[in-house]
Amino acid sequence: MEKIIEEKNQGTALTLEKDQKNTRNLYIESYGCQMNFSDSEIVASILAQEGFNTTNSLEEADLVLVNTCSIREKAEQTVRKRLEKFNAVKKTRPHIRVGVLGCMAERLKSKLLEEERIVDMVVGPDAYKDLPNLIREIDEGRNAVNVILSKDETYGDVAPVRLNSNGVTAFVSITRGCDNMCTFCVVPFTRGRERSRDPQSIVHEVNELWEKGYREVTLLGQNVDSYLWYGGGLKKDFDAASAIQKATAVNFSNLLALVAEAQPRMRIRFSTSNPQDMTLDVIETMARFKNICNYIHLPVQSGSDRILKAMNRLHTREEYFELINNIRKIIPDCAISQDIITGFPTETEEDHQDTLSLMEYVKYDFGFMFAYSERPGTLAARKLMDNIPEEAKKRRLSEVIDLQLKHSLQRTKEHLGKIEEVLIEGTSKKSELQWMGRNSQNTVVVFPKENYAVGEFVMVRIEDCTSATLMGKAVGYSENN
Ligand code: 5AD
Ligand code: SF4
Repeated sequence: MEKIIEEKNQGTALTLEKDQKNTRNLYIESYGCQMNFSDSEIVASILAQEGFNTTNSLEEADLVLVNTCSIREKAEQTVRKRLEKFNAVKKTRPHIRVGVLGCMAERLKSKLLEEERIVDMVVGPDAYKDLPNLIREIDEGRNAVNVILSKDETYGDVAPVRLNSNGVTAFVSITRGCDNMCTFCVVPFTRGRERSRDPQSIVHEVNELWEKGYREVTLLGQNVDSYLWYGGGLKKDFDAASAIQKATAVNFSNLLALVAEAQPRMRIRFSTSNPQDMTLDVIETMARFKNICNYIHLPVQSGSDRILKAMNRLHTREEYFELINNIRKIIPDCAISQDIITGFPTETEEDHQDTLSLMEYVKYDFGFMFAYSERPGTLAARKLMDNIPEEAKKRRLSEVIDLQLKHSLQRTKEHLGKIEEVLIEGTSKKSELQWMGRNSQNTVVVFPKENYAVGEFVMVRIEDCTSATLMGKAVGYSENN
């Protein structure tokens, strides 16, 4: 199934059209979450000012950057293998410099330079504006490190260049960091405390994207519902803000409305929502604006109250059901997807059954499912034994995946016979003769091209489906076109 990502092993090399003035080549490869892909666009934008064109050929590269993920051990192992490969290339092309960006840079810091000696530069997620200085250091033969996490860096003033873009959909980051401290998660350590980006700079970016022909944006954050702008500063310091700052603060539902009103024909999505922070306001705002898509990625991680507590997820199974009921009541055709972890420390078969029964209740449209991977430094690693045998973790994972596949097929079947609005993103991977796009619920739809074009909103009659894809035929343009 396309949408179930057990482990994303493939790094993606991102490129952009060449600027003739630029003299050096940057090869940048990204792993992990959407935020990393979005950050790589910020990095490319900063380095374009420093004379770098992007290339997707390692052979042409002068500078190799890897934007890394630490979320599970396997993600780090994949990056290490790539670093070995880059070092091998260095033997034949010694002028190449290699840098590690992102979460592994932050987690391992100078260890990668001093002990392992596999890179020239280590740059944490809040230090990308320092890249020009760091590159000067390595040009002069010194190693370079900046892993300082910031209180206010949001890159709000950097206009990202759009790498490998389809010209239709784009990511716009709205918050950085996370304050939630789920006990399994390394993100609060690698990406720092939570801060929000100025809503004006977000609206400005969305307006510019519309002007350039983009028709869909995804507002990105580790926990978007926690978005709070009160003039800058960390979310945790909001209590100490002035009365005026508090009165004029912008929360996530305000931000959604601002963006939806600024560009009423732009489709708006967002990710990720944390159940404990998602309010009714947000769901009502989604219902109020036609251009906010009917889709919520709402990770639950486990269906057992005991495990949720041990994970420091601050809601119960019942509270999650209440939220699902409210979503279904306010937006009846809203798609919902999950993240689930199997084999968290102490998870019993009964806890696992609770996860399966929660899935039965929600019947998610799709999901991202993982076996628990202990991350050094997290509370779970410090306080709990990783005591579920690998076979049990894997067996539970395959049970969760099988159930999700069944539900996904049930959900896609519900679209049969309906006429749905699809935004065309590009040619289908399977056939040159078909377009690929998505409906509001984020399900992939393929249909014959006829005379339609990329970036158009088309009404498609759904005629067939797999568990991940809808197949149909266009019946005309959408009124949104
Ligand atoms: N082990 C397995 N999965 C994890 N995730 C986060 N940390 C871990 C871990 N230590 C999963 C969660 C999260 C998603 C982005 O990755 O399900 O929602
Ligand atoms: Fe990690 Fe939890 Fe924050 Fe998500 S909400 S990034 S799982 S700590």
